[in-house]
Parts: sequence; structure tokens; C-alpha cells
Amino acid sequence: MSKKIGILTGGGDCPGLNAVIRGVVKSAIIRHGWQVVGIEDGFDGLLDLKKCRPLTLESVRGILPRGGTILGTTNRGNPFDYPVEQDGRIVRVDISDRVVENFRTLGIGALIAVGGDGSLKIALELAKKGVPVVGIPKTIDNDLCETDFTFGYNTALETATDALDKLHTTAESHHRVMILEVMGRYAGWIGLESGIAGGADVILIPEIPFHLDKICTAIKERVARGSRFSIVVAAEGAFPAGGDRIVAKEADERCTIERLGGIGQYVAKEIAQCLDMDVRVTVLGHLQRGGSPTTFDRSLGSRFGTKAVQMIADGEFGRMACLKGRTITSVTIEAATKTLKLVDPEGEIVRTAEDLGIMTGR
Ligand code: F6P
Repeated sequence: MSKKIGILTGGGDCPGLNAVIRGVVKSAIIRHGWQVVGIEDGFDGLLDLKKCRPLTLESVRGILPRGGTILGTTNRGNPFDYPVEQDGRIVRVDISDRVVENFRTLGIGALIAVGGDGSLKIALELAKKGVPVVGIPKTIDNDLCETDFTFGYNTALETATDALDKLHTTAESHHRVMILEVMGRYAGWIGLESGIAGGADVILIPEIPFHLDKICTAIKERVARGSRFSIVVAAEGAFPAGGDRIVAKEADERCTIERLGGIGQYVAKEIAQCLDMDVRVTVLGHLQRGGSPTTFDRSLGSRFGTKAVQMIADGEFGRMACLKGRTITSVTIEAATKTLKLVDPEGEIVRTAEDLGIMTGR
């Protein structure tokens, strides 16, 4: 194998990406004596060779505690379904051959793709075209299967729990219902675990369609018991039974996935109509994707990074580094991208929430 490897970060950013990059660069150079090429802005970087630069020990100095990614990223650049302007309108074309060609021109022996479900599916397609690929699981949503945790999730949870702690005191002072809208497009992990950790009274997640009357009754019962405030956590992908997810912006030819947002306001309006209480909404948004990674995410990111390099040394291509229990191991990218890891509505964590008296809307 050529002693040069490439690394790119794709999809939405999250805390811990720089720990991964540092782990890859350090172990590739220190243990194996390889060179590392950093590819900017996800797979887009392989469409433009000017976006590929050497990464040295110097380039990764001091980045461990930094959020974001020094390589940049995008959640739009799928080379198999790429938007290009033709005759004044946007059409989608497969330009993956250019990616493969550029990969070869760079003289890279293997590519490390750090990403969530979408980026890893692209990596899998490139693997089928002969690119030796190794994946690393990233997403604050923690919805990738075949790994117990993705890095970034723990930091996002901390941010959400901290927000809940802060909302608690003001909710209590003003006797208000405070709604916190958190991320979680398909999976409610952030909402569920931060809600438990932050002492929420109501948790709404995409896996459990909710009934507004039950939420209102739960809040009324709290008032009757003397608690004149309530805390509601709503994942952006949560929706009422028989209804739809709240879309902030529809998909279009440039962005094939709709943007979610607005569930907090929707629930607030409905609650305000049935209860005589002051309701306020906080949308936590991209704060969950930013900030310095927690100890857990720095450690997990570093372990994933060094594991991916070892996987290349061992010729384990088409596979993704993952965490099973306390051990870092690997699985096929195919298995990791087959389905999403969703919250089990009948599972132990939802049961814990409900045993604590938290209303899940059902
Ligand atoms: O995949 C992570 C995620 O945070 C989702 O929960 C959310 O829907 C999405 O990213 C938002 O992405 P952006 O606004 O950056 O396009």
C-alpha cells in the first residue's frame, strides 16, 4: 500500500471531529511513518485537488479541545447525486468517477471517511468502486447502528442537560411551562437522555407519537400537586399521533432533505390553549453541535482515529470503527448503514423515564 492516507469529515459537524483527525494524523505518523492528506469539505474536497493538503504533527497541534473540524465539512456534497446547473436549472448527476480519479491522482492508498449515515453510505458506494475506505461513526444524534456510541453525542447531551438546568430555575421563578426543542431528526436519544438527566416532566421523541391531551393532563396534575412549572423537552422530529413532523424548510433540488424545526412552538401553542399558563420556547439548535468536546468524546474520537489507522494497516477495508461495550472494534460499513439505531419505545431507557413519572406523550 502507498504510505499516504487521506481523511475527510462529512455531514453535519460535531464536537470531537478534531480529536479524530489528530488521532489519525498522530498514529499514522508516529506508529507507521505514513503521510496524511487532509481533504477539505467532505467528499467535495475530492472534486478539487486544491482542497487537499498535507496534515503534519504541526497541523494538529492544539486542536484536541476545539469544536468543529479543521478540514471543514458539508452535508450536501454527494458525488453520486450531485447538483449541477444545466440550462439555467439544477439537475442531479453522478460525478463519482471524478472522485475516484482524483483519489488515484493524489496517490493515496486508503481513505478514512468520518461521518454519519449519509457520509458512510457514500463511502460504501466508493468502496464498491474500488476505493479502499475505512469509516468512523460521527453524529450528535447517536443514531448509527452497530456502535454503542458515536462521538459528539455525549457533548451534545451535556449542552442539552445544561440548558435544562438553566431553564429549570427560570421556569420555577415564573411558574411557566418551558419547552426546549433539541435536535434528533429520526432518533430521540438527545431528548430522552438529556430529559432524564435534566429532570424534565415531559419528553417527546420521534419514536413515540404524542397525544397533546395527555401532555396537558400531566402538566395540570403537576399544578394540582403544587408544582406550578413544567419542563418539556421536544426532539425536532417528534410529531403528534396521526400527524406529521414539523418542517421548517422543504427539500429542494439543492438540498434533498427537508429541514426540521418548529415542534417547540407547535406544542407551546397547543398547551397555551388548554392550560392557563405562561409558555416559553427555547430552540437549542446548533449550539448542540458546537463547543469543546467532553472528556468522553475526546477519548472516543482519539480511539476511533487510531483504530481506523490500524484498520488500514491490517487491510480491513469497507469497515467502520465502532464501540461495543468498552471495546473498540469494527463492523462492515454495510451493516452500520442498513438501518438507523432508534430508541426502543418499550426499552429500558423509556421505561426509566416513565418510572420517574416523565410523560412521554402516550
Ligand atoms: O444529523 C445531525 C443533525 O444535528 C440533525 O439532528 C439535524 O436535523 C441536522 O443535523 C441539522 O443539520 P443542518 O441544519 O446543519 O443542515
